[in-house]
Amino acid sequence: MSYNSFGQLFRMTTWGESHGPAIGCTVDGCPPGIPLTAEFIQTFLDKRRPGQSRHTTQRREPDEARILSGVFNNDDGDQVTTGTTISLMIENVDQRSKDYGDIKDKYRPGHADYTYIAKYGIRDYRGGGRSSARETAMRVAAGAVARKVIGDVSVRGALVQIGQHKIDRSRWDWNEIDNNPFFCPDPVAAKDWEKYLDGVRKSGSSAGAVIEIVAEGVPAGWGAPIYGKLDQDIASAFMSINAVKGVEIGDGFEAASLSGENNADEIRIGNDGQPRFLSNHAGGILGGISTGQPIVARFAVKPTSSILTPRQTVDCFGNETEILTKGRHDPCVGIRAVPVGEAMMALVLADHYLRHRAQVGE
Ligand SMILES: Cc1cc2nc3c(=O)[nH]c(=O)nc-3n(C[C@H](O)[C@H](O)[C@H](O)COP(=O)(O)O)c2cc1C
Repeated sequence: MSYNSFGQLFRMTTWGESHGPAIGCTVDGCPPGIPLTAEFIQTFLDKRRPGQSRHTTQRREPDEARILSGVFNNDDGDQVTTGTTISLMIENVDQRSKDYGDIKDKYRPGHADYTYIAKYGIRDYRGGGRSSARETAMRVAAGAVARKVIGDVSVRGALVQIGQHKIDRSRWDWNEIDNNPFFCPDPVAAKDWEKYLDGVRKSGSSAGAVIEIVAEGVPAGWGAPIYGKLDQDIASAFMSINAVKGVEIGDGFEAASLSGENNADEIRIGNDGQPRFLSNHAGGILGGISTGQPIVARFAVKPTSSILTPRQTVDCFGNETEILTKGRHDPCVGIRAVPVGEAMMALVLADHYLRHRAQVGE
């Protein structure tokens, strides 16, 4: 039984634990002849890498990905995919397992410690083992390959809320994303968040976040009806990310409070003679199939569970006790979830592109 694979035609399988010697993934189904280098993959990993600002965990992982298989030099001397399984690997170099020794018998609230024991009867307690978000580095690496498959489609993510602090959408500027440590498109909100998150961190607490992922350039027609819906697969992809507790497509839960007149996206004929939507409440998907508009989806991440404030719990011997989680943690895991969300969107789109091509051609 495998629970470590995602996708149908474009399929990623990840392996490894937080404090094992390495983590890795295989990517199956990638078409041949696509230029692919470790440097390209690295640009995306560098965005997720820990320890880049005081607002993320201080674990120092260079996160250097190696391509072990699936590429070869073509006649021009360029490294391209061969159509065989691509294997990617990252060595873990900054494990500090002793941080976790004193909690090995305790179930950390908000973590998967209890449920892994309930299911398997054994767990790697070092950094959460397989349940650790260290695994998401491989999603980002595989997502970089997926981006190559979907060519001109752009997939970008932004943090739109930390704790109760939302951005002002009228100030949305994609160019701001790289100007602050939060992937925040609103420069004013980013400034406020600095102060807010410093306070959260100093008090030993944590905050949740909402991440928005936008895919532009997806033509009308990708996706499928009934049980193969594009929005269904995006929801599944986002929900599989650690700490995600909610997903929205388009207006999401807000759509419930709109009237039918306001919600249904009206259609006219554009200058190119093709249908043109006057709004995008649907988030670019109707009936599980892309409309050609931007695909807009959001996910909510819960506040980091590992905090410096003691919490009540039990141990594996049946005793009630308290726990204080030392170790190095992100005060808001939503920040580093942005590149992970982008990767999951790219993986879904690459899979649906290939599925669309297999059934109806380009
Ligand atoms: C990028 C990323 C980094 C994370 N880092 C931490 C962390 O440092 N501390 C923590 O308590 N949880 C962290 N998490 C969340 C936990 O992995 C997650 O809450 C836990 O495994 C339980 O799973 P669940 O919340 O999905 O039910 C992180 C999540 C993401 C997406």
